[in-house]
Amino acid sequence: MAVLSEILLISPSALTSTKYIDAICQHVENGTFCMQMLRTYPPAVSATDLFSLANIVINLGISYANNTGGYAAETAKREPTLKAQFNSCQHEYDGIQLYLRMARGELKESPMSANYDIFRCTDITMYVKDLVGGNRDTASKTFMEMTLQMENLIDVAIGATVALGG
Ligand SMILES: *[C@@H]1O[C@H](CO)[C@@H](O)[C@H](O)[C@H]1NC(C)=O
Ligand SMILES: *[C@@H]1O[C@H](CO)[C@@H](O)[C@H](O)[C@H]1NC(C)=O
Repeated sequence: MAVLSEILLISPSALTSTKYIDAICQHVENGTFCMQMLRTYPPAVSATDLFSLANIVINLGISYANNTGGYAAETAKREPTLKAQFNSCQHEYDGIQLYLRMARGELKESPMSANYDIFRCTDITMYVKDLVGGNRDTASKTFMEMTLQMENLIDVAIGATVALGG
């Protein structure tokens, strides 16, 4: 009886989205991160098919890249000694947004092209890490943590394109 009532408490839509979340996360190296992130992100939990979930994942990456680029821009303004590096980082994050937007447009027709374009974002995060990874100041450390999170989100977005056949 206890088991049955537990099953009844799970709504059908939650079960459906779990299936799509699993379909994506099985293609992500850190599946634990992927599961935790998507199962606690309301738009992902309410996705009704794999394609919309993939869109939600890419949108999350775009929004995160926008915020991180914004942080780089603020840092460039605030810290004269970091200006050149962080202007460059902001520019690189614009590139991440651009590739993710391209990928979002390609997702339906060609998940493989979307996969390729998202993969190019990993070159950018690597470049950014080389650029400021050696800095010891707080702003750079915060920015490095944001970049690690960006990498995690890129991995999930790549997993989404693979799940769609890319
Ligand atoms: C995987 O993700 C979990 C949850 O975010 C994190 O605690 C763990 O350190 C990650 N593992 C690796 C190898 O990055
Ligand atoms: C992008 O980031 C800026 C702050 O840097 C914010 O004001 C803006 O709302 C963000 N746009 C989107 C679409 O997330």
